[in-house]
Amino acid sequence: MPDPNEPGASGVPRAAEALPIAGEPDGGPSLFERLGGRGAVERIVARFYSLVEGDPILRPIFPADLTPGREKQTLFMEQWLGGEPRYSRLYGHPRLRLRHFPFVIDERAAGRWLRLFAQALREEGVEEALASELLARLGPLAHHMVNADGDVPREPLGERFLQ
Ligand code: HEM
Repeated sequence: MPDPNEPGASGVPRAAEALPIAGEPDGGPSLFERLGGRGAVERIVARFYSLVEGDPILRPIFPADLTPGREKQTLFMEQWLGGEPRYSRLYGHPRLRLRHFPFVIDERAAGRWLRLFAQALREEGVEEALASELLARLGPLAHHMVNADGDVPREPLGERFLQ
């Protein structure tokens, strides 16, 4: 029986990975569709990144140029919410925890990340119930990125590890 806290195929804990992302259990529309598709995801991520830009806790963790990360996050979100797997076509397997090793992320940063994402959803007019549903799925993922106390390699990983 695999450990539910260990990363599974998508790089998130098996327990979180087991959550139905691509579609609703009844075969209804995906979260991606319910949010409003590609345009809506782009607007939400852009809003989130502009909040990161002005945030005293998160800004120092991110690189000087926020553009490449924002583009990757947009592609990833579309895929993770049940849209096309555009992120993996370009960058391979998400391996999210591994890709965050170069950045020191503590619980406070994870909490702030979630708070700013919630704010971005609100500011982009996402309906309360839908926003809560999405945040409930993001919560475990954000906490899974916490690595501040871990003995993890901090050097830039290089693309060969990321495929
Ligand atoms: C918990 C707090 C988090 C912090 C402080 C954080 C920080 C970062 C930083 C600094 C980068 C690098 C950006 C760049 O290279 O330009 C990054 C990349 C990324 N983050 Fe996060 N992140 C967090 C949580 C998350 C969560 C919950 C998700 C998924 C929903 C996520 C998805 C991504 C993706 C897809 C990338 C791009 C990875 C790549 O292909 O290189 N992050 N994050």
